[in-house]
Amino acid sequence: MSATDVFAPAKINLTLHVTGQRDDGYHLLDSLVVFAPVGDRLRLTPDGALSLQVDGPEAAGVPSDGSNLVLRAARMAGQESGQITLTKQLPASAGIGGGSSDAAAVLRALGRDVPPEQIAQLGADVPMCMKPRPQRVQGIGEQLSVAAIPSLPALLVNPRVSVPTPSVFKALRDKTNPPMPETLPKFADRSDCIDWLATQRNDLQVPAMMLTPAVGVVLEALHTLPGTRLARMSGSGATCFALFDDTEAMRFAEISLRAAHPDWWIASGLLGDQVQKSAPSMATQ
Ligand code: C5P
Repeated sequence: MSATDVFAPAKINLTLHVTGQRDDGYHLLDSLVVFAPVGDRLRLTPDGALSLQVDGPEAAGVPSDGSNLVLRAARMAGQESGQITLTKQLPASAGIGGGSSDAAAVLRALGRDVPPEQIAQLGADVPMCMKPRPQRVQGIGEQLSVAAIPSLPALLVNPRVSVPTPSVFKALRDKTNPPMPETLPKFADRSDCIDWLATQRNDLQVPAMMLTPAVGVVLEALHTLPGTRLARMSGSGATCFALFDDTEAMRFAEISLRAAHPDWWIASGLLGDQVQKSAPSMATQ
């Protein structure tokens, strides 16, 4: 029988406003999310008992047992057979939704109806990864609305330090920050969008920098690159992104960043472009 290949793109929070906290400790968010043409790949082969094998450049430390979200998602969808190979391109615990996107990709590939409330139990980021397209995310991550965002040339950079999400939320002092405007602006073009994004925030950036100073080092490096229009952290970090006016400026900046920081994970590409099932790989290292 034939194998099914599925792509699990990186999720980037262009903005992430923490607007409150529920009684169960989860935080209320207002976030603009886009997806990148870099991501993990999964191959589902229908033979044998359900199993998971993890390979790829970012496989180190990723569990292949029942604790992996991929197997939890497959079981949730009623799948008890088949071999899954997960090729990790995305660093783990990096603020770009790697594990959540993998889980969502398996659910997409299996094509079974799983109620949204159940999908959310896998993790707050899994619902937004089910349809990888620009969207506004509210609630704790389960309220989704499609957003119109122009494609944005970006560098994604991780200093190879993993950051535990709960610690970053815990370190956030003020849990009640203003949301984004109720109606998002209609962006005339890419430049207009970047100007507006610069007026918004990631409320987790300061606590993440306090816990993990490497985040501040990355942001500083991105700010000083030629052509950077905006540099910000994604999710709870440590991955940060820089936005550029065009792909030439992005590539130029990428060359100098790679030369200066050969040890960092770096990817480049257009954020928010319709991510295809088998997206072309962004160059990473
Ligand atoms: O849902 P998930 O397991 O991905 O969340 C990881 C942790 O991040 C939670 O245990 C919680 O501490 C924190 N979190 C939060 N509010 C959210 C999402 C995550 O406090 N909306």
